[in-house]
Amino acid sequence: MLRSFVFVVLCLCVASGEESCDRREMENTICSLCSQRRGGQLLESGHQVAFFVYMSQNIQINAISKYMTFVYDRVETNVGNGYDVRSGNFTAPENGIYVFHTSTTSFDKSHCMVEVVKNGQIKDITWADSMSHDDRAVASSMTILSLTKGDIVLVRAGVQRGGNYLESNQYTRMSFSGFKLA
Ligand SMILES: *[C@@H]1O[C@H](CO)[C@@H](O)[C@H](O)[C@H]1NC(C)=O
Repeated sequence: MLRSFVFVVLCLCVASGEESCDRREMENTICSLCSQRRGGQLLESGHQVAFFVYMSQNIQINAISKYMTFVYDRVETNVGNGYDVRSGNFTAPENGIYVFHTSTTSFDKSHCMVEVVKNGQIKDITWADSMSHDDRAVASSMTILSLTKGDIVLVRAGVQRGGNYLESNQYTRMSFSGFKLA
């Protein structure tokens, strides 16, 4: 629409021998068209990345080994396809600053360390611990990481764990989520 308007204005200018055309107005129109185009390119290069996944059932602690990756099997959101439900790995689809969150609930006389790991390095750690009493203990983490395309972030069990199970059901969910901030 604007483009054809500019074309018509340009044609009129050429036809009428410039003087009748307001040069400043024409420049303004062209400038605004150029910035619109640049804005569009910015939007195209900055893709959205966001995921939210959780466990579909409780996880028995005796089935968890040291440094075992938690494979959150229920995928609610996976914009940008960074989360792989087979391995539990999140692979950064592009460079950027990312925010990750975990929530883990230990149930009645249970505990488990939970680590957020980037390319094999521990970046954050938390400990859901209700080992000495009957009740739930909810542990969460929020971790802001600068990632390069291809970096892998995952959540795994730490060294210390024991007891019954980590809970994920209609009362609480064991989840892993993240998004690209910038
Ligand atoms: C998942 O990440 C781990 C640790 O970085 C890596 O060893 C493994 O190959 C990855 N698996 C897949 C399927 O990408």
